[in-house]
Amino acid sequence: MSELYDNPRYYEIAFSFRDISAEVDVFEECFRRFAQIPVKSVLELGCGHSPHMEELTKRGYQYNGLDLSKAMLEYSRGKALRIGAQVNLIQGNMVDFSLKGMVDFVYVLLGSLDVKNTSELTTHFNSVAQVLKKGGLYFLDWCVQYDPPGGSEGGDSWEIEREGIKVKTAVSWKVINKVEQTFEETITLEVNDHGKNLNIVGKEIKRAIYPQEFLCFVSGFKHFEFVGWWNNWNLLQPLEQAEKIDRPIVLLRRI
Ligand SMILES: C[S@@+](CC[C@H](N)C(=O)[O-])C[C@H]1O[C@@H](n2cnc3c(N)ncnc32)[C@H](O)[C@@H]1O
Repeated sequence: MSELYDNPRYYEIAFSFRDISAEVDVFEECFRRFAQIPVKSVLELGCGHSPHMEELTKRGYQYNGLDLSKAMLEYSRGKALRIGAQVNLIQGNMVDFSLKGMVDFVYVLLGSLDVKNTSELTTHFNSVAQVLKKGGLYFLDWCVQYDPPGGSEGGDSWEIEREGIKVKTAVSWKVINKVEQTFEETITLEVNDHGKNLNIVGKEIKRAIYPQEFLCFVSGFKHFEFVGWWNNWNLLQPLEQAEKIDRPIVLLRRI
């Protein structure tokens, strides 16, 4: 696993630009408008430090998180203990996994859909279908590439300071294989923790998923139907009308 995920506190600061309560409002709007069952339980794939766990449990949802990284899961356990939440944190691989029970809502955030090829994409969706109740929703944040990393090699960077810890984050993408649609994502954290400097680098190979192949994949998959896709976590902004695509979300329903 990437050393990036051995540093949950720094990772949490790096990605703390999100408005968590507003994002949980968007989840709930999806439940109201598109779920065909009452949503009481949720599963976050690649949960990491479980940024939405506190808000979700406060609103009465039963939280489940699955991650490969022990350090991330330990960090989330500590958080759950501090807030007194009863949660289920599981070490597992989202490529192929199972759960003891079933859930009403599954979500994966910040492009964390970790599949390296088409066969992993298929086993991943089969696993989600096994754990998601019929009528429930699967929510994917930035997991489809509308601006192909293969087309424009590029990146982004930003800086955030919390409690005396400064984290400068840089994300970049590089094509690995155009036929296999693989690209390498590099995330670098330059940390200044009260004067102590660290440089943390995480590299992952991912398979790009392009919009029209995603629609074909879903329509050929008997367990899911496409509900919609929107820009900027805003259900008033269908992607078809977006000029610049940023933080796009996709919603599927289990059938
Ligand atoms: C980008 S972080 C996202 C963390 C959190 N969901 C968030 O929104 O900030 C990705 C997480 O996915 C986990 N991860 C990466 N590959 C995985 C896999 N194959 N199965 C399960 N978790 C995985 C990493 O350990 C990491 O915690």
